[in-house]
Amino acid sequence: MTDSSAQPSAPATPSAPSSTEATSVAVLGTGIMGAAMARNLCRADLDVRVWNRTRAKAEPLVEHGVRVAATPAEAVAGAGVVLTVLHDGEAAAEAIAQAAGAFAPDTVWLQCSTAGLDGLDRLVALADEHGLTLVDAPVLGTRQPAEAGMLTVLAAGPEETRGRLAPVLAAVGSRTLWLGTVPGAATRLKLVCNSWVLAVTHGTAEAMALAHGLGVDSADFLEAVAGGPLDLGYLRTKAAAIEAGDLPASFAVDTARKDARLIVEAGERAGVRLDVAAAGLDRLDRASAQGHGDRDMAASYYASFDA
Ligand SMILES: NC(=O)c1ccc[n+]([C@@H]2O[C@H](COP(=O)([O-])OP(=O)(O)OC[C@H]3O[C@@H](n4cnc5c(N)ncnc54)[C@H](OP(=O)(O)O)[C@@H]3O)[C@@H](O)[C@H]2O)c1
Repeated sequence: MTDSSAQPSAPATPSAPSSTEATSVAVLGTGIMGAAMARNLCRADLDVRVWNRTRAKAEPLVEHGVRVAATPAEAVAGAGVVLTVLHDGEAAAEAIAQAAGAFAPDTVWLQCSTAGLDGLDRLVALADEHGLTLVDAPVLGTRQPAEAGMLTVLAAGPEETRGRLAPVLAAVGSRTLWLGTVPGAATRLKLVCNSWVLAVTHGTAEAMALAHGLGVDSADFLEAVAGGPLDLGYLRTKAAAIEAGDLPASFAVDTARKDARLIVEAGERAGVRLDVAAAGLDRLDRASAQGHGDRDMAASYYASFDA
């Protein structure tokens, strides 16, 4: 059962913090997604502090009103909400462990990294260990929706966090899909959504590669499907990027590899055979080995050819 709302519903019980400022947010991780989310939190007049492993990448956020902390502990001190948006569950766990002892007693941890099933299990245990209230909150949408504050947040966590999180969720996304009160439901849905995203990406990449190999003009391919049920905005965006050879990362090959691995592992854990996901992981591994790891995942295209 889901509860989708542009404005998350009011909490069952008030969740106004006592010892922390509700609108103080610590963002751990300022990559493609985290930097955009931090900027939007500032635009919404929240007090935002960030930490990033490579500090230089966080510094440009200062001009948007963000305070850059030297350590995760410095970032989380006094924050009512800690938002992690790091590469994977392991990186999120490391950052939280480094902040141990600095959390306010009533901290809500909004965990937006795509962590996968095993990763989330570890984060749930870590939240218990440090007395944090964990909300499992992976996001849908890539660089552009993140920059526009138009992400869809998939959320699962205690009802009483919703009031505290409302201004944060409204700043980073256009929609929050609440999936119940137990962390895990959002991560499971995120894996399903990403299996679809990756299938469409590889499908586009392979169709473009085959067109190239057969001497078919890719414009004819797009014209043939134009206006029908197989004509996707996503197909057009990725096909245009492949055609132009212009692939700055919205969702980098190396991030997509991590997600593909999480999907394959989730299928194994569930006893579900995922041949396409496994083949897609092979393509991303090849594209990365060819030197495309930092480019957009549409660089899966290059995996169809010898380097
Ligand atoms: N991009 C998308 O379209 C998209 C969409 C939805 C969800 N996501 C998810 O959002 C998360 C962030 O993605 P992104 O695209 O923003 O990735 P990104 O640009 O590659 O940024 C990754 C972030 O994780 C940090 N990091 C990596 N390894 C670390 C470690 N061992 N310890 C500490 N920090 C570490 C990086 O720090 P440095 O700057 O020091 O490297 C950076 O802050 C991922 O879980 C991804 O799956 C991404």
